Amino acid sequence: MANIVIVGTQWGDEGKGKIVDLLAANADIVVRFQGGNNAGHTMVVKGEKIISHLVPSGILQGKTCLLGNGMVVDPEVLIGEMDYLAGKGIDVGPDKIKISDRAHLIMPYHKALDHAREKKKGDAKIGTTGRGIGPCYEDKAARSGIRFADLIAPDGFRRKVTTVMDEKNFILEKYLGADPLDPEDVIATYSRFAERLTPHVANVSVLIDEGIRAGRQVLFEGAQGTHLDIDHGTYPFVTSSNVVAGNVCSGAGVGPGQVTGVLGIVKAYTTRVGAGPFPSELFDAVGDRIQEKGAEFGATTGRRRRCGWLDTVILKNAVRLNGLTGMVITKLDILGGLDTLKICTGYAYKDQTITHFPADLDILADCRPIYESLPGWSEDISDIRSRDALPANARAYLDRIEALTGTPVDIISVGPGRSQTIVTRNPLKP
Ligand code: GDP
Ligand code: IMO
Ligand code: MG
Repeated sequence: MANIVIVGTQWGDEGKGKIVDLLAANADIVVRFQGGNNAGHTMVVKGEKIISHLVPSGILQGKTCLLGNGMVVDPEVLIGEMDYLAGKGIDVGPDKIKISDRAHLIMPYHKALDHAREKKKGDAKIGTTGRGIGPCYEDKAARSGIRFADLIAPDGFRRKVTTVMDEKNFILEKYLGADPLDPEDVIATYSRFAERLTPHVANVSVLIDEGIRAGRQVLFEGAQGTHLDIDHGTYPFVTSSNVVAGNVCSGAGVGPGQVTGVLGIVKAYTTRVGAGPFPSELFDAVGDRIQEKGAEFGATTGRRRRCGWLDTVILKNAVRLNGLTGMVITKLDILGGLDTLKICTGYAYKDQTITHFPADLDILADCRPIYESLPGWSEDISDIRSRDALPANARAYLDRIEALTGTPVDIISVGPGRSQTIVTRNPLKP
């Protein structure tokens, strides 16, 4: 039996949703363990595009989908997403979707604080998704968060919300110059959400344990990417959770010994949405071409994604931090038609060459990418279904990524559709 973690290796939007949807065919349970609706995961099945923000991407394959304790969940968005999926004939009943009783709720004041803080920061803003993610995780760490266990216990919910909102309204009004919120409105709205969601609330850690003991296979679906991790990313231009594979243990409530493999999703080039350093970013016509051909717009906020060459300094970081057992290269089709491809293999900093990602953003800002060049290919590869049938230069590009990272490429994605995939090793199907 295998239990596999899927993580983003770059700055998010690597194509995790597509790969989770694909691999879920051989899984029984799919679990999200961190983040919230800052994520936007796209699946394309039989030509239809479906984007999920909170519900794990195993839902289209009819699998049991669990939202772990490490997540921050906006109940309004979750209900909206369940209705959207139900409208497409997908079963989203309480047997299919369970939410951890320990997961934290994103409250209206978290969203108001996220917006007001970004506005106050002006040019120094992080470029958050504005979904209240940071303020919700802050409350979790400050021990003033509100959990699903509170939502379904009406008396305690009222008391907690009233106490917490006293402080939030003070900060919103007096420090950030934003409008305060009415606690009675919040309590009334959230009571309606509680009615709808109560049948879905459960102890997710116990459900996973029961599943594993019964021989079920589990897929853990990461959101964001390794370089948005609060500890290991480009702090402070990061999200507010641990994104790396190790957080499966605390964010879903499983022991490290249960995880049998970690697949890192690697976009064949690099993108980033929001502010923060990006050493291999392109500011020329090649960057524009990748952005246009790759349709690089955020699945959550619709923002244009910044584009650049593949960077193996960050990939090696991701290999180490996540203990990757394999990689999935996505969007290889987008690189077709370029005469030359570049791979960043190190950074020039003053008179040194840096090969480990620096923590200090001032050093990173002065780093210049060192590239090696490889010849491109002109063929359309989106209908190719075996690695051997790829153009020689596409194979050489993949071989070089494997050599530079010391990690095998198990899956190659050549288009957004579920079937547009070359699987050389499926970790859930030994
Ligand atoms: P996620 O957040 O990691 O799940 O990724 P997103 O869904 O935000 O962004 C990835 C985008 O690339 C989506 O629009 C996918 O449909 C698309 N996509 C995924 N794999 C491929 C691929 O191999 N080729 C192409 N052309 N598009 C892909
Ligand atoms: P998926 O799961 C890309 C980025 C935001 C911003 C920073 C902090 O689709 O790969 P936050 O709202 O989390 O406080 O924003 O993190 N960000 C993402 N970028 N993909 C994501 O998720 C992201 N989730 C957050 O753009 O720079
Ligand atoms: Mg995304």
